[in-house]
Amino acid sequence: MSDYIGPEAILEKKKKYIMPCLGHFYREPRQMVRGSMQYLFDSEGRKYLDCFAGVSVVNCGHCNPEITREVCKQVETLQHVCNIYLTENFVNLAEKLAEVTPGKLQKSFFCSTGTEANEGSLLLASIYTKSSEFIALQNGLHGRTKLTMSLTGIGMWRTDPNPVGGIHFAPNPYCYRCPMNKKYPECDLACANAIETLIQTATSGRIAALIAEPIQGNAGIVVPPKGYFKRVKEILAKYGGLLIADEVQTGFARTGKMFAIENFDVVPDIMSVAKALGNGAPISAFISTAEIADTYTRPGASTLGGNPVSSTAGLAVLNYIEHHNLMENARARGEQLRAGLAELQKKHPIIGDIRGIGLMTGAEFVHGDKSPAFEELDQVLEEMKNRGFIIGKNGVSRNVMAFQPPLVITEDDINDVLNALDLVL
Ligand SMILES: Cc1ncc(COP(=O)(O)O)c(C=O)c1O
Repeated sequence: MSDYIGPEAILEKKKKYIMPCLGHFYREPRQMVRGSMQYLFDSEGRKYLDCFAGVSVVNCGHCNPEITREVCKQVETLQHVCNIYLTENFVNLAEKLAEVTPGKLQKSFFCSTGTEANEGSLLLASIYTKSSEFIALQNGLHGRTKLTMSLTGIGMWRTDPNPVGGIHFAPNPYCYRCPMNKKYPECDLACANAIETLIQTATSGRIAALIAEPIQGNAGIVVPPKGYFKRVKEILAKYGGLLIADEVQTGFARTGKMFAIENFDVVPDIMSVAKALGNGAPISAFISTAEIADTYTRPGASTLGGNPVSSTAGLAVLNYIEHHNLMENARARGEQLRAGLAELQKKHPIIGDIRGIGLMTGAEFVHGDKSPAFEELDQVLEEMKNRGFIIGKNGVSRNVMAFQPPLVITEDDINDVLNALDLVL
């Protein structure tokens, strides 16, 4: 007799008690009951290599013992007092974030989710610029609240029938399927240049900010070409608009740098962080320069934002990333993975494109005519799961295999997943 209710009972209760907007992966999903670094275990004792990390959350590995020890100590000492009272790790974490973020990003506001961090970033940009016009990128995803959903450029995530106005979408830098039908570098970054036309023609001429993921996650691991963000920043500077980097999915060593925007040699004005900051503990933040942050003076507080337990988790995460050189492992294992996928691509033409930086890597599945092979991808992911490999899926057409594993993954693990994928394909 198993100690667990099992996937079928969970599905039954889910249908009855959970709102139907929340789907689940797999035709035959499993009940996950335990995690240990890069591995997951289900209710029947089967072991999986986790190549998705709960969507870029457990960068330091499941139940990482060093982080868990710190969190447990804090849970047993002081769990919550709300951040209008003084606690130590709240400010220590803000200090550490100022140290690891690029440029002069310095002052933080802590909250709990990525959506909330983006809401805060957008609010701060509005306060600083006194404008509430925003630009976002097509195929970007920024959250579930009214404003962040309105800024999300993927139809399937835009449920709100009455989105916020004053929002404009620029073409995304998706070279494999260029929305402008051009080729890099002859295009001269036409997608970035389109932002200037957008500002001149569709806005009052003064926008609050452009919000973008440095690498678009949900869009299917869309990596902008070199020079893209530099051009974007120049255009924004000309019109007094800020650059908000949504690092919710890309942050904390995933791309071989602490933040993905650093791969483009650009410093954003405001940055939203979440997911991997807590390695599973709910914590997020938006961080900005003192000049911008100091305009946010009217009262603002988040009940659970940066509470003692979450702040302790965040500090332990940042220390772990540094002490265990996760940036270097993300870089090396990412290169190994993409090289292996490129070998598989020679044999299996269903892999149309391989892209990514570090351990944020995608493989786009296509048919011979480049149409999205989403049904085939679903079959492959199901079979990979049956063989003990959990791999993610994203892309506007749901045809991109997403590798975003815990950054503690080893060379042998990567070889294992590549070998299994070869067999399944
Ligand atoms: C880039 C990006 N921004 C924001 C969010 C929203 O974060 P949360 O689900 O924590 O509210 C997500 C969630 O996947 C995301 O990928």
